[in-house]
Amino acid sequence: MSEKPVINYGLEGVYVDESSISKVDGQNGKLWYRGYSIEDLANRSNFEEVSYLLLNGKLPSKKEYSEFTKKLKERGDLPEEVKDTIRVMAPTAHPMDIMRTAASMLVMFDKDPSNRDGDTTMDKVITLIAKLPTIAAATGRFREKKSYIPPDTTLGHSANFLYMLTGKKPNDFESKLIDLMFILHAEHSTNASTFSVLVTASTLADVYAATTTGIGTLKGPLHGGADEAALSMMNAIGDPNNTEKYIEEALEGKQRIMGFGHRVYKTYDPRAKLVRSYLEESLTKEPSDEVKRLLQIVLRAEKMMTDKLGKTKGIWPNIDFFAGPLYRVMGIDAHLFTPIFVASRMSGWGAHIVEYWHNNKIVRPLEWYTGPVDVPYVPIDER
Ligand SMILES: CC(C)(COP(=O)(O)OP(=O)(O)OC[C@H]1O[C@@H](n2cnc3c(N)ncnc32)[C@H](O)[C@@H]1OP(=O)(O)O)[C@@H](O)C(=O)NCCC(=O)NCCS
Repeated sequence: MSEKPVINYGLEGVYVDESSISKVDGQNGKLWYRGYSIEDLANRSNFEEVSYLLLNGKLPSKKEYSEFTKKLKERGDLPEEVKDTIRVMAPTAHPMDIMRTAASMLVMFDKDPSNRDGDTTMDKVITLIAKLPTIAAATGRFREKKSYIPPDTTLGHSANFLYMLTGKKPNDFESKLIDLMFILHAEHSTNASTFSVLVTASTLADVYAATTTGIGTLKGPLHGGADEAALSMMNAIGDPNNTEKYIEEALEGKQRIMGFGHRVYKTYDPRAKLVRSYLEESLTKEPSDEVKRLLQIVLRAEKMMTDKLGKTKGIWPNIDFFAGPLYRVMGIDAHLFTPIFVASRMSGWGAHIVEYWHNNKIVRPLEWYTGPVDVPYVPIDER
């Protein structure tokens, strides 16, 4: 009998590849996409430019930018079959299930989905980046029995998402907020969903298959679904004066406080700091009573959790804690939070697929078997 190996549960601390796409410094709370700080990108760039950067490893020239955005604009609309499917699913299915199904359907409209030659992978990724926000927006509209709004090619990528969802052209502040969320969610190294995308891609399954895997993985409340779960916790808290009591009881009951803790960040998530600052800025723009109430809960919960668990256990707020209230500033329904995350993360997933396929190796880890061997087989009539 060989000796039991060290098992890294949840692959904690395991390096699976080299990558030049993003660096997460969990000790110092820093994040870079292709070497550019997340603060610089969030405050000075936009989602289209960030997507180009993630996919190509450099910022675009004016010409490259205009060619890239032209493709995104041209491909944003959805085939009728996809719209019909979203419409059928909208009354009962969670938008993440709709997102997963509709994204998977897009393979039907690609004449050569398995082709990985030259720039074709990149081209498929751009198509998905273009169409996923439209799927999320159409889902939101059909859930409310409203009609489909096609993309408006005069708008930027994320502002167009808000327009397709609400039917109103967003003002500058709303456009900045939604673009901020698209930028901040675009990439985060090999977290669970990106790793799952790479597992599927490593079998040389196509980009649509890999994306569908990623969407399934992102749904869970320990991962992308935490933004919706955190808002639902804030709604359960209700009155800001109830915040401390609610959290105290939840921790005593060994419950997780959604939007706190991270596998890599053992300090404040830099993305959370950015969302928090824009959330505070929204207070100067006559926010709704709901947003004011949420912000009070957020600040009280943040203080309590960081006093209690921040310095002692390294559990700090992550981006998902502040995301929900910021989406509520824009009037976005909680069920759409994670689909927006998908629409944005497609850029990072795409960059990782392209990078991984340069040096592909099928992912195949091991398990330490703890069951019996050579058990005598007994036919069913004799059992
Ligand atoms: C993100 C997360 C899954 C990371 O998990 P992980 O690295 O495997 O860490 P663990 O689950 O082993 O947690 C380590 C310890 O911190 C505690 N902990 C972690 N996150 C916590 C949270 N949000 N609330 C309360 N306690 C938490 C665990 O109970 C555990 O305590 P113990 O050592 O006394 O048993 C985890 O922090 C979590 O569930 N957070 C809430 C969901 C969330 O916000 N996800 C989005 C991440 S961007």
